[in-house]
Amino acid sequence: SVKSYDFIQTTEPRPGVGQITLNRPKALNAISTPLIDELNHALQAFDQSPDISAILLTGSQKAFAAGADIKEMSTLTFSEAYTTSFIESWSQLTTTIKKPIIAAVSGHALGGGCELALMCDVLYCTETANFGQPEIKLGTIPGAGGSQRLTRAIGKARAMELILTGKSFSGKEAFEWGVAARTFPTWEELIEGSLATAETIAGYSKVAVMAAKEVVNKSQDLPLRDGVEYERRVFHSLFGSEDQKIGMKAFAEKKKAEWVHK
Ligand code: HXC
Repeated sequence: SVKSYDFIQTTEPRPGVGQITLNRPKALNAISTPLIDELNHALQAFDQSPDISAILLTGSQKAFAAGADIKEMSTLTFSEAYTTSFIESWSQLTTTIKKPIIAAVSGHALGGGCELALMCDVLYCTETANFGQPEIKLGTIPGAGGSQRLTRAIGKARAMELILTGKSFSGKEAFEWGVAARTFPTWEELIEGSLATAETIAGYSKVAVMAAKEVVNKSQDLPLRDGVEYERRVFHSLFGSEDQKIGMKAFAEKKKAEWVHK
C-alpha cells in the first residue's frame, strides 16, 4: 500500500529490499514523535510485506539523525513523560521487527540518532560519520538504550568516558571498536555497499534469515548457556522448514537453491 509520509521516504530499491530514508533535513533528521511514529509504521509495513526480506534505514549524507527532537523535549514535564511513556515506542524497532535492519550512517548520529543506529542489526557508516551521546551537555542522559547498547558494544571504559564527556567518535573509531561492521570512504559507496548487503540477505530463505536475526539478538539478552540452548531449539525447528530441505538438497545436487519462502 502506498502511504505518504512527512518525515521519511520509503522505496523498494532492489528485489526484496525495503529502504526507509529519514527526511527531515531542516532539523538534521531530529527524531520527533511524529517522525518515530512514521518510522514505526513504515517498519511494520515492510516487516509484514511478503515482498520484503531486508530493510535499509538511512538518513542524508549530512545527518543520519542529530538526536531526539530537543525542542519537543525542552518543555516536557516528568508527569507527561511518565504517563505517555515517552520514548517507549522507539523500542518497537527491537521488539516487533523480525526482518533484519541495516543502518547506513553518514554525518551526525548523535544522542537518539546514535541510539537508533545501535538498535539496528547491521551498522555500516562512512569513515567520517559523527557518533556520540552528547545528552550530558543538555543536562540529561541517553534515554533510548545508549548507556546499555553502547557499553555492550565498546566496553565500559570507552562508553563511560564518552557518555560522561559527551565527546563524539568517528565512523573509523566505530569500526575499530566493533560498533560498525564496515566503513566506506564516501556516501555513494556506503549506500551501494548497504544495498548490496541487503540484497544478499534478501536472496536467502526468509525463514532462515529471520531465525538468524532472532538468535544473534538473543545473545545480547541471555547468559551463554541459555543462549546456546535457545539457538539449538531454533536450529532444530528449522528442520521443519521446506527451505532447509531445499537448501541442503540443492547443495548435494550442485544446483542453486530455489527457496519457497524468499
Ligand atoms: C531539534 C535540532 C536537533 C535536535 C539539530 N537541530 N539537532 N533540532 N533537535 N536534536 C536543528 C537546529 O536547531 C537547527 O534548526 C537545524 O537543525 C540545523 O542545525 P545546526 O545546529 O544549525 O547545524 P550545525 O551547525 O551543522 O550543527 C550540527 C549539530 C548540531 C552539531 C548536529 O545541530 C547539534 O549539536 N545538534 C544537537 C545534537 C544533540 O545534542 N543531540 C542529542 C539530543 S538529546 P534551526 O531552526 O536553528 O535552523 C537526545 C536524547 C535521546 O537525543 C534520549 C531519548 C531518545
